[in-house]
Parts: sequence; C-alpha cells; structure tokens
Amino acid sequence: MKIVILPGDGIGPEVAAVAARVLGELPLELELAEQLLGGAAIRETGDPLPPETLAACLKADAVLLGAVGDPRIELAEVRPEQGLIRLRQELDVYANLRPAQSDGVDLLVVRELVGGLYYGARGTRRDGTVFDTMEYRPEQVERVARRAFELARQRRGLVTSVDKANILATSQLWRKVVEGVAGGYTDVELEHLLVDTCAMQLVLAPGRFDVIVTENTFGDILSDVAAGATGGLGLAASASLGDGSGPGIFEPVHGSAPDIAGKGIANPAAMLRSAALMLRHALEAPNEAARLEAAVDAALAEKPTPDLGGSASTAELTDAVLAALGNA
Ligand code: NAD
Ligand code: IPM
Ligand code: MN
Repeated sequence: MKIVILPGDGIGPEVAAVAARVLGELPLELELAEQLLGGAAIRETGDPLPPETLAACLKADAVLLGAVGDPRIELAEVRPEQGLIRLRQELDVYANLRPAQSDGVDLLVVRELVGGLYYGARGTRRDGTVFDTMEYRPEQVERVARRAFELARQRRGLVTSVDKANILATSQLWRKVVEGVAGGYTDVELEHLLVDTCAMQLVLAPGRFDVIVTENTFGDILSDVAAGATGGLGLAASASLGDGSGPGIFEPVHGSAPDIAGKGIANPAAMLRSAALMLRHALEAPNEAARLEAAVDAALAEKPTPDLGGSASTAELTDAVLAALGNA
C-alpha cells in the first residue's frame, strides 16, 4: 500500500512524523513517501501544490496530511491553503467525514468539500467591491447527501441536514435535493436545521446529533464547534473521500497551530486518529484501525498534552501510544 505523507507547515510536520513512526510499528506492508505541500512547497518551488506532489498523490492508495498555513504568508498572492484546496478538488474528495465523540456524544459531520464559497466565482469590481460566490450544482448536493444517508444507515439512523434555506438560494436547492435523496432511505430519519440554530445546539446538546450533512463553509465552522464540544482540536480527525476511484485524504481538523509550533507540545491524537480512519477507509485494515484508536485513547488517559489540561509533550504521548500498541 502506497501512502503519500504531506507534512505541510507549523505543527503539521511534528504530528506527521508521529503518524509515520506509529504506522511503521503496525504489522502492515506500507510504503510511506513524503512530498511537499503548502508553505513548505512555496518556499522550495513557489507552488503550494507542486506537480510532483500531485502526481505522487494521484498514484497513491491514500494521502495523509499534517496541516498547512503560515502566518508569514497569510495575505500573499500565493498562499499555503491554496495547495490544499486544489488537492481536494483534483482528487475530487467531496465527502469530508469529521467524527466527534465524548461522553454521551457520538456524531459525524459530513462536510461537502469541493464546492460552495471555496470554489465559486470571485473577483473585484471597478468600484472596489470584492466578492466570493457560493455556488452548488444539484449533483454536488446529491452525491454528498447520499453518502450521509449511507453512513447514517450504519449508525443511529438520523440525518440532520444543515442549511440557511430561510435566506440563501443555494440552501433552498440543498434542501430540495436532500429531500429527494431521503426518499430512497425510508429507514433513515431526516430533519432540517438552520445553521445558526445548529451551532447553538452543538454547544448545548451535542448528544442529540447522529449525522450532520452540510455545505463546505458551514461544515468547516460546525466541525470546529463539534470538536470544541468534545475535547478540542487536538483530538479531531477527518477523512476526505471521493467515489472510491482515487485516493482519499486523511487529515486532522486542526491547522498548523503557529502559536505552539516548534515547542514539542502539539497533541498528535487528531493526526493518529486520522491515520486510523485511513486504515479503515482506504487500506482495508479495520482491526489495525481499532487497535490504533484504542492505543490512542489509553495513551491520552495516561499522558494528556497541555491542550487537554495535562503536561505531556508530543514525544511522551507518542511513547505512551507505542507502549499501548505493544500491550494490545
Ligand atoms: P489552528 O487549528 O491551527 O489552531 C487553533 C488553536 O488550537 C490554537 O490555539 C492551536 O494551538 C490549537 N491547536 C490546534 N491543533 C492542536 C494540536 N494538535 N494540539 C494542541 N493544540 C492545538 O487554527 P488557526 O490558528 O486559526 O489557524 C492557523 C493556520 O492553520 C492558518 O494559516 C490556517 O489557514 C491553517 N489551517 C489549516 C488547516 C488544514 O491544514 N487542514 C486547518 C485549519 C487551519
Ligand atoms: C480545514 C481548514 C481548511 C478549510 C483551510 C485551511 C483551507 O480550515 O480543513 O478545516 O477551510 O477547509
Ligand atoms: Mn477548518
């Protein structure tokens, strides 16, 4: 199995190195190769997604990504994030699965990942007005809705579709298409929620949710809220999946965390859980995925990092994960 690792920027390389080390301890034939993405790629080549990186990803069985983002080039013409946005589009990974779990909470945000504001028309008018455009085609909504219903069927059977249909035309399309898809899943319950209400309920009653399906920008924000309600960004993993003909991208929900980069205290759990999602969704190794998740849980209980109120370093938590794997 060929895995491309894209460490990226900030704490990305710190947590990606942990994932590479831990994956190396599993009894699987994995071929890991690193490529440049984001700020690291801009500094070497001028391009946040160099052609070699894209070619390697297209040939891989899975892509494991740390994080991109560099405050020094945040407002530049060429930015690290553009590499990630293009990579998602090139691999057409339209369904971004972002699970959030804690006591009494087990929810899954399914975020549409290759449409909406991130990919719509943008520009500047002569009068200085700047615009981004939220655009959706019915097929884009339909395929991610279908994925959400399929996933809900294997879970508790509730889909919450989140939109802003009281004001946005794209949301009215979203709601209509989701209703249509729901007709084929009579065993799954569907409810609609406006995005502002959903944000509040994620804070007050996260346990009421099963699968939340929503468009790109709403999903970006709501998945950070869901992470915040269940232990923080240090724990939140994600899997970005297409129709199965190409590789998926597996990456933490968090970013490059410039405020803690280089300090050796980043929590690698989100990255390791993303690696577990890769084992499950891309490498057909569900047992190793479960073993890794259990080892991460055990290590977190024993050696919590500062973001969880503990004092363990990245290296100490990593050692605890390796020890737990050895005992399992
Ligand atoms: P961030 O997720 O990087 O950090 C938010 C806060 O959470 C920070 O205080 C950070 O220290 C903390 N945090 C995040 N991950 C952590 C971890 N593993 N362990 C401990 N603490 C952790 O978000 P931000 O600060 O808004 O963005 C920083 C940069 O990251 C920006 O350039 C942004 O564009 C980029 N970004 C990239 C991705 C990605 O690559 N997928 C995701 C989000 C943000
Ligand atoms: C995420 C990040 C990215 C996004 C940025 C870095 C482009 O916030 O993966 O959640 O908005 O999708
Ligand atoms: Mn985000």
